[in-house]
Amino acid sequence: MNNIPNHVAIIMDGNGRWAQEKGKKRSEGHKEGGKTLEKLALYAKKLGIKVLSVYAFSTDNFKRSKEEVDFLMDLVIHYFNNKLNKVCDEGIKIIFSGRREPLRDDVLEAMDKIVEKTKNNTNCILNICINYGGQEEIVDASIKVANDLRIGKIKENDLNRETFLKYLYQDLPPIDLLIRTGKEHRLSNFMLYQSFYAEIYFVDTYFPDFLENDFDIAIEYYISRNRTFGNVKTN
Ligand code: IPE
Ligand code: IPE
Ligand code: MG
Repeated sequence: MNNIPNHVAIIMDGNGRWAQEKGKKRSEGHKEGGKTLEKLALYAKKLGIKVLSVYAFSTDNFKRSKEEVDFLMDLVIHYFNNKLNKVCDEGIKIIFSGRREPLRDDVLEAMDKIVEKTKNNTNCILNICINYGGQEEIVDASIKVANDLRIGKIKENDLNRETFLKYLYQDLPPIDLLIRTGKEHRLSNFMLYQSFYAEIYFVDTYFPDFLENDFDIAIEYYISRNRTFGNVKTN
């Protein structure tokens, strides 16, 4: 495929409803979502996508029941310790975005381990957003900027929209294509700064059912768009 997006981001929504509509527990939907994520990461690498960012757990998801939060955290550990071997073996580098506080120590440990294990991989970056909030990220970046200004590391004139990017959780290219599965048409505090010119693709399919073929359709949608970045069309 030509014009493949460099950075694709997915708001992986609809796991709970996928399960509930099948008469299953919400946790079954999260398990199935994990399998889908593994498939999509491998597929993104195969397509030559450089960065895949995924929203796995938002800062606001801590509002959910302790049972659901605990299940999700246990699932995260299980995935990082046992399930993502193929992803690691295929040369995909795993990184995380989000606040460490108040994640459990065992979750942080599993995250740190997989980052270390995949740090030299160069085929594709999988940026997993856990305990992530887009506004929180901008606030955290602003605190770092204020500190650098105070100690004289940078001057006000050094700041612009590109240099500010370096203060975010990870130094990544802008999002080209942002996909949200699961019927809702909103950003839910996801990568607000990085999605400034993203093409946005909303799809009703619940995340567990969003497989390679659906991903292809999203990419085709992206390729069909005329991106003008504030300019006017020239042809
Ligand atoms: C997305 O699916 C996964 C997480 C937020 C962890 P949901 O759990 O939000 O599923 P729905 O939206 O309730 O169906
Ligand atoms: C966004 O989905 C967060 C993740 C997919 C991890 P939510 O289900 O939490 O968002 P809202 O509540 O529909 O806005
Ligand atoms: Mg949801």
